Amino acid sequence: MKSLHSFARTAAFAATFAAASAFAQTAPASAPVDKHLARNLAAQCANCHGTNGKSVAEVPSLAGVPANVTIQKMKDYRDGKLPATIMHQLAKGYTDEQVALIADYLSKQPK
Ligand code: HEC
Repeated sequence: MKSLHSFARTAAFAATFAAASAFAQTAPASAPVDKHLARNLAAQCANCHGTNGKSVAEVPSLAGVPANVTIQKMKDYRDGKLPATIMHQLAKGYTDEQVALIADYLSKQPK
């Protein structure tokens, strides 16, 4: 009985390991430099600011806003210089490089 149990455990471990290493092998190989990185980052803003930054509700649109304006506001939110209900927290979750990518992407979207 005991050996059956340990066999089952070993088999389960082997299956998990195989799945994990298969994932590890396929993921980076097929993604050189992610050309959709800016779009994918900006998609994290879409729940509140609308798809591609075009808001349909009260939250301001970001589409077509010059990149330097969005970058500055994100910095001000992060540094607590701009009052906010949520953006001061969100702004802390992005590096300067990520904010620049997002801002550039959104600036090119139709208003
Ligand atoms: C959970 C909802 C939510 C998400 C997600 C969100 N925002 Fe905001 N955003 C807001 C709200 C609400 C405001 C108004 C300020 C406040 O109350 O925080 C705002 C304001 C802003 C402003 C100022 C707009 C203006 O005209 O003054 C910028 C810039 C901004 N957000 C950028 C972003 C970026 C970039 C992302 C994605 C990385 C993002 N936001 C994600 C809710 C959100």
